[in-house]
Amino acid sequence: MKIFLDTANIGLIKRWAQTGLIDGVTTNPTHLSKEGGNPTQTVLTICDILPLGTISVEITETDPESVYLQARKIAALSDNIAVKVPCHAKYYTIIKKLVEEGITLNITLVFSLAQGLMMAKLGVDYISPFVGRLDDKGADGVEVVRQLRHMLDWYGFETQLLAASIRDTAHLERVILAGTDIATVPTTVFEQSLEHPLTDAGMEQFLTDWKKLNVSHFP
Ligand code: E4P
Repeated sequence: MKIFLDTANIGLIKRWAQTGLIDGVTTNPTHLSKEGGNPTQTVLTICDILPLGTISVEITETDPESVYLQARKIAALSDNIAVKVPCHAKYYTIIKKLVEEGITLNITLVFSLAQGLMMAKLGVDYISPFVGRLDDKGADGVEVVRQLRHMLDWYGFETQLLAASIRDTAHLERVILAGTDIATVPTTVFEQSLEHPLTDAGMEQFLTDWKKLNVSHFP
C-alpha cells in the first residue's frame, strides 16, 4: 500500500519525504497555481525530492491533439512522472496512443465503475477515483473504490487504484479497507494519521511513572 502526498508545496513535500513513508506526489493545476512561481521548476524540484517516487502532473491543454503533445512533453521532464489526463470521452483515442508509446498515465477525475473499467481496458497505469467529491454529491466515494477494486481483481487488470480527494483520516482508513493500492492525501491528513490521543496520553503516563523511580542513568 502506497501513500502519495496531494500537494505541490515543496516545503511540505521535503519535510514529509524525510519520514520514508511517502511514495509519490499528486500535483494538479489547482495545487500548482496555489504555489505560484514557475510550475515547470516546481515539478522538477518535486521529482528531485522523491527520485524513486511517482509524481503526477496534470495536462492543462484541452483539445485532444494539444493534450497528446503536452502529455509527451510533461513525461519527458523526468523518468518518475505519471501524466494526469482527465477521464473524458474526448481523450480516449489519445490515451490509447500514449499508453502504446509507453507513457505512464494517471487517469484523474474518475467517478464511476464504468469509467474505471474503460480506462483499465486501455491499459493505463493508474486510475484516480475522487472519494471526497463523490461524498460531496451525496454518493459513497469509498463504495466506488471498493467496486473498482473488485472489477480490477475480477478481470485481472494491472491498472493500479489510486484513491484521491481524501478529506480525513476516516476516509484514509476506509479506502485502506477497500483495498486501494495507493491513497493520495493532503499533508494535514497525513499528519493526523500518524497521531492518536491515546498515544500522547500513554507517553505522558509512562514518563510520569518513570520519573517516580528517580534513577539518573538508564541503561
Ligand atoms: C488527486 O490527484 C487530486 O489532486 C486531489 O485528490 C483532488 O482532491 P480535492 O477534491 O480535495 O480537490
